[in-house]
Amino acid sequence: MLVDQREIQARGGKCARYPVSCLIGELLARAGVIKPLRRFKVLDLTFGEGRFWAALPNAEVWGFDIRRLRWVVKPSRFYNESCEGWRKHEEILSQSFDVVVADPPFSPYQRGWEKRGHYRDNGSIPIILYEARKAAIHFRAPLLIHFVGKLVFYGFRVMAEAWFLGISHLTQMSFPTWFGVLSPEVGEG
Ligand SMILES: C[S@@+](CC[C@H](N)C(=O)[O-])C[C@H]1O[C@@H](n2cnc3c(N)ncnc32)[C@H](O)[C@@H]1O
Repeated sequence: MLVDQREIQARGGKCARYPVSCLIGELLARAGVIKPLRRFKVLDLTFGEGRFWAALPNAEVWGFDIRRLRWVVKPSRFYNESCEGWRKHEEILSQSFDVVVADPPFSPYQRGWEKRGHYRDNGSIPIILYEARKAAIHFRAPLLIHFVGKLVFYGFRVMAEAWFLGISHLTQMSFPTWFGVLSPEVGEG
């Protein structure tokens, strides 16, 4: 399924400003991870500005990020450190989460992006994906991934996915990226 950013934005409201958040709401609902009007709890390993949650007020988000950016959504808990830290915090290990999230800083490079510091840490991609996999298995929670291409993890199956045709507000160029909700098969590690 290819979803054009402009189709979501045409709905207006929060979807006009945060189309990715509306797409995520739909994917999580389609995967059966969230239900209308019910609260759900997220471990977001790459919180960024929190844009993923801007149109989803029922999300309680625990976020990690090496940067403290200007948030569009305030996380319930925020850890200003590399996402590997989730394993060190007792208060995290004892929680349950409805979904673990990874949005690594990949960049199909476009002019102007060098100004956006949070797309520069491409060296973190394997760390983030590894930790996301581990965390999903530890919490027995589905994994929401946003990546430049489709990812298939050993021991995981795809519950819902979409190619998102986003439009850079810097260059006005469009490019597709992949969103997937993956479920860990019990017993994998
Ligand atoms: C594509 S952005 C995430 C945007 C976010 N999904 C949002 O909605 O605003 C990638 C983020 O990963 C963060 N990052 C890079 N390396 C990291 C690491 N090792 N641990 C945690 N966050 C990291 C960057 O600082 C950046 O904010």
